[in-house]
Amino acid sequence: MQDKKTIITYGTYDMLHIGHMNILERAKALGDYLIVGVTDENYDRSRGKLNVSQSTDDRVKAIEALDFVDKVIVEKHKHQKAEDMVKYDVDIFAIGDDWVGAFDYLNEYTHVEYLPRTEGISSTKLRKETFDTIKFGIAGLGHDTEAFINEAEYVSNIKINRVYDSDFLALKAFTKDNERIKYGHDNYDEFLDTSIKAVYINTSQEAHYPLIKKALEAGKHVLCENPLALEKNELKELLAIAKKEKKVLLSALKTAFLPAFSQLLKELKTGTIGDITEVRATRTSLYKEKDYPDSFMEQGATNILSSYPSLLVHKVLGKRKSITFFDQEENGYDLSNLIVTTHKNGAIGVSRVAIGAKSEGDAVISGTKGYVYIPAPWWLTKTFYFRFEDTHKSHTFTYEFDGCGLRYMIAEFASLIQRGHRKSEKLTPSDMVAINRVSLDYSDQKKNRKKEN
Ligand code: CTP
Repeated sequence: MQDKKTIITYGTYDMLHIGHMNILERAKALGDYLIVGVTDENYDRSRGKLNVSQSTDDRVKAIEALDFVDKVIVEKHKHQKAEDMVKYDVDIFAIGDDWVGAFDYLNEYTHVEYLPRTEGISSTKLRKETFDTIKFGIAGLGHDTEAFINEAEYVSNIKINRVYDSDFLALKAFTKDNERIKYGHDNYDEFLDTSIKAVYINTSQEAHYPLIKKALEAGKHVLCENPLALEKNELKELLAIAKKEKKVLLSALKTAFLPAFSQLLKELKTGTIGDITEVRATRTSLYKEKDYPDSFMEQGATNILSSYPSLLVHKVLGKRKSITFFDQEENGYDLSNLIVTTHKNGAIGVSRVAIGAKSEGDAVISGTKGYVYIPAPWWLTKTFYFRFEDTHKSHTFTYEFDGCGLRYMIAEFASLIQRGHRKSEKLTPSDMVAINRVSLDYSDQKKNRKKEN
């Protein structure tokens, strides 16, 4: 009797369509046993596929439901194909002819076969037809505004052509230099009274709360830089308005949406480093040397930077029990702060931020069986190392990202709006509250200190 012939193929299979069905049937016809590798969402995002509309689980389920598919696996990284060929003793690797030549290197492991692709259909086309274009407006010509506009080009179904800033001259100069921005408003009510569906707010921190509130009440989805609010209860109020208006309110913390950061959290959940005892993360930047105005510096290190380390600490250790600040102040604002939090089972979070001192911007997550090291700049997460006493067990994960990382956050925000979801699992409302609370608690402590003096 002849051995069974194993075929393997890979794809994203978003919004499963006739082109996918045809290629899978053609692949199966080449042998007896068909394995389908479905790409994991973090891997897809790291290779630039940002707009996939279904989760990995949903795509896996759709392929599993096909009776001619014998096994479904998840493809997590670039080198997995070669590993799978050996692991599953594959006879033929089959893939659509849009990939001709790209997988010739696998001939070393198996026979590579490029199969005809079905004309006239693709997931990209279906997504374009299914989802409406979201019109975005930008409030504030802050440091990242230009980068935001550039990065949004990589996210499908988004159009940004309108900005608001109270500074008329700055607005005029910006719209003149930026041909994609057709409309400039120095009146926020007028700006909101247009067909925009969503607003990205990138203004001074004091302006965040009133601008978010107005935008939500005008029925717009909001993505806003950190901290969202500077007073206790303001963020809760904003979240309550977002809930009432059924709108998305998301904090613009780009790290939370990077493919490697999501994968790091997933890997930690497997428990390989044991019980987590400590999370230590540093973020410093000498803004003065980068020509930021004094008014920016006066917001202080904690307000400007603490959201990043607080994100890592909170995502890994959860709710905190206590918080202590070790700050260094000058001219009434904090140049640096060492923020120590305690959590369940005695775990400790150490967040170090500074705008008046420079330090190594790395992060370490320590556990009872090993630790994770994320090299600087850890908040632009790409590579992280799982390390153990037995060095043979150590391994490295790399999930690249393109551009400056903003496009992953924009893609998540757009996808929430498109799918009619209000909350991102990557940055939930309770994550946002916990992160914002660090700045708020610090400001309370400063106020109390002043009273005592
Ligand atoms: N495929 C095909 N015919 C199509 C679309 C896809 O044969 N019209 C094949 C691809 O060649 C690949 C597999 O289906 O072997 C999975 O492709 P995938 O990238 O998931 O589908 P696309 O529709 O091409 O997705 P996208 O538009 O997001 O690139």
